Amino acid sequence: MNKYDLSGKIALVTGGAQGIGLSVATRMYESGAHVVIVDIDEVFAQTALAAMPDRSSFHNLDITKPDLVERNLKEIHQSLGSIDILVNSAGIAGPNAKVIDYKFNDWKQILEINLDGTFNMCRATIPYMVANNYGRIVNIASVAGKEGNPNAAPYSTSKAGVIALTKSLGKEHADLNIAINCVTPAAAKTRIFDQMSQEHIDFMLSKIPRGRFLEVTEAASMIAWLCSEENSFSTGAVFDLSGGRATY
Ligand SMILES: NC(=O)c1ccc[n+]([C@@H]2O[C@H](COP(=O)([O-])OP(=O)(O)OC[C@H]3O[C@@H](n4cnc5c(N)ncnc54)[C@H](O)[C@@H]3O)[C@@H](O)[C@H]2O)c1
Repeated sequence: MNKYDLSGKIALVTGGAQGIGLSVATRMYESGAHVVIVDIDEVFAQTALAAMPDRSSFHNLDITKPDLVERNLKEIHQSLGSIDILVNSAGIAGPNAKVIDYKFNDWKQILEINLDGTFNMCRATIPYMVANNYGRIVNIASVAGKEGNPNAAPYSTSKAGVIALTKSLGKEHADLNIAINCVTPAAAKTRIFDQMSQEHIDFMLSKIPRGRFLEVTEAASMIAWLCSEENSFSTGAVFDLSGGRATY
């Protein structure tokens, strides 16, 4: 594994208890960062922490609650001294159905976690990065946000929102040593698959020219570079992880 030097950096990873977020958290830990896992799954988070015996902590935090997010970020900053890296991986897929059959509450919940949650975390974190003239943020969007998957409109819409949010934020802070980017993965086999129909999983695989699912470590590799000091120029950009699916 190539290593980017993240020693001394404080890295927050939402959804870091499992899946892509856990792979990112692990890679950052192995690269020398102090990792703060932000998640609502206490059991998975404790297992994750056990594998990172020093330089790690856990905040049981629902990212959809703006006041709680502000308070937790203040505590993290006070106790650790800075917030250098934020990776927003927390998200849900929601059920698969056509828009005409979608329940409004399901639509709202997906938008609330995937888009509002990412907004809440970015808004609460960036002022600390501005004060320090340093920060790296990666939001995990999805190729669904570019392509608009059938039977997953709320998910696709939320991820298109994350892409636009990232582009706006990148421009707003491009005058500082702050880089804000997003990645657009194709499907990776994690527990998020439990929320989807087999038909939808088969559809996603059929769309990937590589002919296989993305490995979470492949996502972590690109994200680690985006979060390193070496990424000193790219910001407000969308990095493809779709195995050849995305056409732009
Ligand atoms: N796995 C894929 O196929 C795939 C493809 C493209 C994009 N993504 C995106 O990557 C990200 C990670 O997905 P994953 O596959 O690792 O999913 P996952 O289900 O394995 O992990 C998601 C984590 O987010 C946490 N979470 C959910 N709601 C939360 C909330 N309100 N507050 C805090 N934490 C919360 C969960 O507890 C869980 O630990 C998601 O944003 C997902 O949309 C995944």
